[in-house]
Amino acid sequence: MVPHAATTEIVVMTAAPEATRTLAARLASAARPGDLLCLIGDLGAGKTQFAKGFAVGLGVDDVVSSPTFVLMTEYVGRLPLFHVDLYRLADASDALAGGLLDERQLAGVALVEWAERLGDALPVSRLDVVIDGTGDEPRRICLRTADAGYQRYLEAAA
Ligand SMILES: Nc1ncnc2c1ncn2[C@@H]1O[C@H](COP(=O)(O)OP(=O)(O)O)[C@@H](O)[C@H]1O
Ligand SMILES: [Mg+2]
Repeated sequence: MVPHAATTEIVVMTAAPEATRTLAARLASAARPGDLLCLIGDLGAGKTQFAKGFAVGLGVDDVVSSPTFVLMTEYVGRLPLFHVDLYRLADASDALAGGLLDERQLAGVALVEWAERLGDALPVSRLDVVIDGTGDEPRRICLRTADAGYQRYLEAAA
């Protein structure tokens, strides 16, 4: 019998960008090929800071910057890292039609900023990283998943 998928979450507070990056780097130790992490939060919440830290945790040597104008940037690390930013996408469905989330990413980890723009097109198997707070405020970072296979991220954060 397959148990009914229960959503589980944990909340971590970070007081500075370094703390957000450190948390993300720790989570990267749990990363496996094919993982999808959705970074959700307002402009300036810290989604790109999270991506930078995650990349460091994956052993990426390049500095991760905002891929806003290219939609996706690929980095080489322990696993390939695909950093996607859907902010400027005119029609989020184009992202799927254009192969933005495709089988290539099964070899690595996809971090998607503004992933909520994909709506129902998002697979259930994913980790949501929901960041609240802007400016100098501490950030409330909620790690949430409905897939038991992603529980390892919550454990890595604890
Ligand atoms: N606790 C924190 N976590 C992350 N970023 C923070 C934090 N406190 C302040 N900041 C600042 O907030 C900004 C977040 O920017 P960025 O990561 O580009 O946001 P986003 O990608 O969500 O638009 C950075 O200038 C960062 O220095
Ligand atoms: Mg960003």
